[in-house]
Amino acid sequence: MKSTVIIGAQWGDEGKGKIVDYLCKEYDVVVRYQGGNNAGHTVHAGGQVFKLQLMPSGVIRKKRSLIASGVVVDPKVLKKELDTLEKMGLSIGPSLLGVDFRAHVIMPWHLYWDAARESGSHKIGTTGRGIGPVYESKAARWGIRMEDLVNPVQLEAALDKSYPVHAKTLKEIFNVQQLPSKEKTFQEYAELGRQLEPYLCDASQEVDGALDAGKNVLFEGAQGVMLDNNFGTYPYVTSSQPVAGNASASTGVSPKKIKRVETVVKAYTTRVGAGPFPTEIQGNAGETLRDKGKEFGTVTGRPRRVGWLDLTIIRLGNRLNGYDGMHVTKLDILSDLDELPVCTAYQSGGKTYDYFPTRHSVLEKAKPVYETLSGFKDADWNAVCREGKSKGFDALPLQAKKYVAFMEKHAGVPVLSVSVGPNREDIIVRRESEP
Ligand code: IMP
Repeated sequence: MKSTVIIGAQWGDEGKGKIVDYLCKEYDVVVRYQGGNNAGHTVHAGGQVFKLQLMPSGVIRKKRSLIASGVVVDPKVLKKELDTLEKMGLSIGPSLLGVDFRAHVIMPWHLYWDAARESGSHKIGTTGRGIGPVYESKAARWGIRMEDLVNPVQLEAALDKSYPVHAKTLKEIFNVQQLPSKEKTFQEYAELGRQLEPYLCDASQEVDGALDAGKNVLFEGAQGVMLDNNFGTYPYVTSSQPVAGNASASTGVSPKKIKRVETVVKAYTTRVGAGPFPTEIQGNAGETLRDKGKEFGTVTGRPRRVGWLDLTIIRLGNRLNGYDGMHVTKLDILSDLDELPVCTAYQSGGKTYDYFPTRHSVLEKAKPVYETLSGFKDADWNAVCREGKSKGFDALPLQAKKYVAFMEKHAGVPVLSVSVGPNREDIIVRRESEP
């Protein structure tokens, strides 16, 4: 029985979808446990490019895929994603996809609420998908859950409770006039509920049962450690917890049943939206790396901010999550550079910090400490990929191997695989995931 959590080590967009797609061939069930359609997981497979937002990446290999109770679901987006995948030849019926009846539903007012807040002075650069507001509704105990969406009587009662107060607040505080009427909202969402009803399940019970039956379960995180609502660069974070501990809490299985945690680390760093990013590369060098790495948001198309690799983040993540291994992605994107600065520590107020400092008073004065490694400019990446399949890790240029070894040494975590291109075949396995 394998039970593994895959999480993003940085600020999201590390390539988790691709790694989950690769690893899940050995798993029976894939569970998404937090976030919503703020995530964008891109998977290149069989000559097609799948851009998933809500769907666990396991669907592409036709693995049983579950959306757990901790995920927030925009039913319009879910329906559209099902239709798009159907058009791409991937038909996803209820035997493939299950959505926990407890998952909270993103309603129109959550989108207006997100947009209205972001138009003010406290803008943090959200994806505008209503994620913060829906988690607020959930915590405030007036949210609408999937089980309400699929039951017209419950949906009507839930709307009676939450619609008037949201409409009034949006109108009076944010001057939002265009919220659809309660009746129109009911009709539209009851219809979505009717279409999605067959997918409803109890993901907690199903995952628990699968693990007891000796099946392999992969828990797929969205976003990344530095966007964690508790441990990231608050308030420039998302509203859920990507950390591995939350895979248990948000799916509804005992933490004792989850055996392994693996993380996906981009070979450099990116972040979207506002917030601290001490290793950010300013000017032309940053733009060149952004263009080469195609660093534009999958969900919003926004240009991502680009920076050098920061190993203090991986060390922080290792403390929070207990990494058993790392999957390094996009190593090929660094192949045009002469030198590769890597942040190994911070200095702030006369002290040296080994871990990324998330306390504001420390972070605002913190200066990254870099070690500069030689680049691997002369590598023929096509040859590396071709040979990588047969020769494995040894096919990498010497300086690239040194870069990876440096990561391992400073993070204190073994590298399990290295990706040198967008396709499944471009993943070079270094060590098997399971001992
Ligand atoms: P929200 O999750 O839409 O509320 O956005 C909060 C912050 O998290 C913003 O800085 C977003 O850019 C960022 N964010 C949310 N989801 C992702 C993701 O999947 N990848 C990268 N950044 C994300």
